[in-house]
Amino acid sequence: MCAVKDPVVIHKGLDNVYVKESKICFIDGEASKLFYRGYSIEALASHSTFEETTYLLIYGSLPTRSQLEDFTKRISLYRSLETSLLQLIHSFPITSDPMDVLRTAVSALGLYDPQPASDRIEDRIDKALRIMAKAPTIVAAFDRLRNGREPMPPRTELSHAADFLQMLIGKTPGDYDAHIMDVAMILHAEHEMNASTFSCTVTASTLADMYSIITSGIGTLRGPLHGGANEAALKTVLDVGDPSKADEYVVRALAEKKRIMGFGHRVYKTWDPRYVILKKLGAELAAQKGETKLFETATAIEESALRHLAGSPIFPNVDSYSGIVFHTLGIPTDLFIPVFAMSRIAGWTAHAIEYLQANRLIRPKALYVGQKELPYVPIDSRQE
Ligand SMILES: CC(C)(COP(=O)(O)OP(=O)(O)OC[C@H]1O[C@@H](n2cnc3c(N)ncnc32)[C@H](O)[C@@H]1OP(=O)(O)O)[C@@H](O)C(=O)NCCC(=O)NCCS
Repeated sequence: MCAVKDPVVIHKGLDNVYVKESKICFIDGEASKLFYRGYSIEALASHSTFEETTYLLIYGSLPTRSQLEDFTKRISLYRSLETSLLQLIHSFPITSDPMDVLRTAVSALGLYDPQPASDRIEDRIDKALRIMAKAPTIVAAFDRLRNGREPMPPRTELSHAADFLQMLIGKTPGDYDAHIMDVAMILHAEHEMNASTFSCTVTASTLADMYSIITSGIGTLRGPLHGGANEAALKTVLDVGDPSKADEYVVRALAEKKRIMGFGHRVYKTWDPRYVILKKLGAELAAQKGETKLFETATAIEESALRHLAGSPIFPNVDSYSGIVFHTLGIPTDLFIPVFAMSRIAGWTAHAIEYLQANRLIRPKALYVGQKELPYVPIDSRQE
């Protein structure tokens, strides 16, 4: 048995552990800054599109006009689902959680790929783009089927964001709703080495196929401390129901040591820059639709939480307003995490591809603190 020479340092939660060098995303959690491939999130949210941002994340530079046209066309043509996959989705219990449906359907997509495990980088990217293109179709189809409606076919002339809303709601969205959805997808497309991206990276490091890589990410994203917080944050706002009740809720939650959903972040110790953008969009959207109460309640919760948490590094994160924006766009609450996943496939892919270009199997260690050399006790001799 080898003796441990140096004292072992356990990095619980892998805080501050770096697993690779990366050129994809930079977060300055003290200065409220986020960059994708060197471009600020504010610039991308103002000027880019989800398709262009995906190209940037995966290929490393902004596309030329013709590159973007080809890329956009390619994604739009990949959106339709095989009839057998639609039938599979149709066979799922209508009570299924949409995130389980997305995870299962993405995994099943690999069964229809004649070469799921091809490991040429270009093939891997192509498979990932097919998954990314089909994810909104899967999510929207399941939602319609569970509500007794026929799935809407994808429409190649629409943007990725607009097509998702069209397939979900059943009519072409207005330009403003499509724009808000597009920006929300850009904001959710990438966020450095978070839990789900690490999960994808671990799976990629074994040289597993893209379907397994993205399925790992979807499974990891769904927990309430990661992707699930937007759903939980909206539920809080709906439960509180009125701005006048916000302070009472916050005081009680903090006294009971409960977490305010949509607050706090492992990396941001100040404002999450995505929150700033989403709050502004949320305010505009609420005013445009004449549905301001939810937004005002969220703002009252935020103001109260900021007052009571003053002096701590706990600030609103992306999830404090994303749920309200999605809700106002007509997206059902249990689709929020799938929508997050649909967007994040871009970032997962970029990281998996980057890692594979200098791959090393990820295999950390656990410090064993259990017993050793125990005599084996036959089952009849064990005490109940
Ligand atoms: C995201 C999150 C897991 C990151 O937290 P972290 O860096 O691991 O910080 P910790 O869980 O160690 O918390 C540190 C302290 O801040 C408190 N804290 C963290 N987030 C809090 C929140 N949202 N509300 C109230 N208190 C919070 C913790 O209770 C803890 O207090 P303690 O030291 O008195 O026990 C955490 O902030 C959280 O659970 N937030 C709510 C869920 C959420 O919005 N997630 C979306 C992230 S984008």
